[in-house]
Amino acid sequence: MLSHLVSALAIPALVSAATVTYSVPAAAPTTAATLDVAPVAISIEFFTWPSYMTNVTATTQCLSNFEALTGEWPAIRIGGTTQDRADYNPSTSAYVVYSTSSATGVPTILTYGPSFIDLAAAYKGRVTMGLNRGHNNITNTILAAKYSKSKMTNLYAIEAGNEPEYWSGATAAADAQAQDDWAIRIGQAISTTDIMEEGNSLSPPPTWGAAELIATENSTVTPYVKTFSHHAYPGGDTTTLMEHSLTVSKMAVFKADIAAATTAGKQYVFGETNSVSGGGAASVSPTYSSAIWTLDYALYATTLNAKRLYFHHGTLGACEYCWFGRYTMGASYYGAYAASAAMASGSKIVMLDAGTTNYATYIVYGSTGAPLRAVLINTDFYSGSGTRGSEVFKLTGFSTTSVKAKRLTAAASTSRVDEGASPTFGGQEFENGSCVKTGTEAYETTTVSSGAANFTVNASEALIVYF
Ligand SMILES: *[C@@H]1O[C@H](CO)[C@@H](O)[C@H](O)[C@H]1NC(C)=O
Ligand SMILES: *[C@@H]1O[C@H](CO)[C@@H](O)[C@H](O)[C@H]1NC(C)=O
Ligand SMILES: *[C@@H]1O[C@H](CO)[C@@H](O)[C@H](O)[C@H]1NC(C)=O
Ligand SMILES: *[C@@H]1O[C@H](CO)[C@@H](O)[C@H](O)[C@H]1NC(C)=O
Ligand SMILES: *[C@@H]1O[C@H](CO)[C@@H](O)[C@H](O)[C@H]1NC(C)=O
Ligand SMILES: *[C@@H]1O[C@H](CO)[C@@H](O)[C@H](O)[C@H]1NC(C)=O
Repeated sequence: MLSHLVSALAIPALVSAATVTYSVPAAAPTTAATLDVAPVAISIEFFTWPSYMTNVTATTQCLSNFEALTGEWPAIRIGGTTQDRADYNPSTSAYVVYSTSSATGVPTILTYGPSFIDLAAAYKGRVTMGLNRGHNNITNTILAAKYSKSKMTNLYAIEAGNEPEYWSGATAAADAQAQDDWAIRIGQAISTTDIMEEGNSLSPPPTWGAAELIATENSTVTPYVKTFSHHAYPGGDTTTLMEHSLTVSKMAVFKADIAAATTAGKQYVFGETNSVSGGGAASVSPTYSSAIWTLDYALYATTLNAKRLYFHHGTLGACEYCWFGRYTMGASYYGAYAASAAMASGSKIVMLDAGTTNYATYIVYGSTGAPLRAVLINTDFYSGSGTRGSEVFKLTGFSTTSVKAKRLTAAASTSRVDEGASPTFGGQEFENGSCVKTGTEAYETTTVSSGAANFTVNASEALIVYF
């Protein structure tokens, strides 16, 4: 279907670049996946939700930057470990009540009130509420679900329980029964079908996952299920986290699970995900390599038919992988922004490479069926000193005489915004603290000759080509 040839070229001076060549299918291949209106989404740790929304200036601006691209405020999932530590208290006026021994501590027990849910109702995008199953008090969870249903016109889904495989004595079979039971009882209590986000495990399929749950679901449960969610933190160092072939191989475990959900007519999402579990790794998650990973991972997951990826945001002041916080931006925001820009108003996506090298090539198709954008990613590491490697991506199939592109770049794979080295996307940055886009938007222009164009992408860079 497409030509794929890799050839080593001798380039003057010290740099040796190789070329990958692809012909861009004029229409989306039948293997292309269908895109959600806004696949790049955000997860916010339950107890931090009010702080992010009321006490972090960057939050609303960072989210509105995506809305400006896609026309849709990013979907939010409120949940995480502390959703199973949180009891609903209908009579508290506080958003959330807890105490911790340090400013960056995580509460072991908390309560939240109606205003917590009102804050979710006020958000302009889709919201998934992660409610408690860990305390095994469905009466309390149903109270919160009822209030959510009554106030939130943006209520997209409800989770009951987070990563239940880690609860004492848990087995997959017993948990599946409980998930089915809670889905029916919550769905009936709020008289709503298509509402439950099931799964929510981090332990991999097939032991924990959509296929395993679907096998236990009868005709009473199925109508209440909206989505299946899995959590994913692939991990790695500044070299291996972003390597495209590793991103592809690590995701192989989800293929059958996504297919099972799709066959059952339900969406599959990565409902909580980010680079490294446990808030991120200080040596990896804040670095620019994590931005390259975020871009490639988000695009690759959507080619597998995952509908949305909710990148997790945890404790303020102790969150290595966060896109933003009170004071500085996280480099990975740039990868998320580029991914959102690449897929904005797209209807289909396909990966053209075989997933076996460090060089990724995606094509996003628009609603007319024609190619809208190409995304070219070089996931090689660059230390910041010495010669920077590069890869030439030759694409054929253009019908214009030139094409424009935006480049995602930074000084090194290890660049960190909090160390004063910001990435840029199309020449622009996002300001610390405010998340306001600064600088002049810059497009590069590449000449097309006989329908072909060569794009040079340096190590740890990406190019979004606009057809
Ligand atoms: C709001 O942020 C400040 C730091 O900017 C912090 O000291 C304070 O505790 C925060 N308040 C809440 C309610 O999160
Ligand atoms: C369960 O939740 C209900 C409703 O909030 C509450 O009245 C009850 O005390 C809770 N049960 C336990 C054991 O905490
Ligand atoms: C489906 O299973 C639930 C228990 O999870 C049970 O209450 C219900 O009666 C079953 N429905 C059918 C149609 O068998
Ligand atoms: C790519 O790297 C080379 C070698 O370091 C450098 O001269 C060039 O400016 C870089 N290109 C871009 C577009 O950043
Ligand atoms: C962002 O804040 C960090 C940490 O305070 C600082 O090192 C960096 O220079 C700032 N970046 C900009 C563009 O002001
Ligand atoms: C792309 O690069 C190849 C190899 O250097 C060259 O033969 C070809 O003419 C270039 N094509 C365009 C459109 O610049």
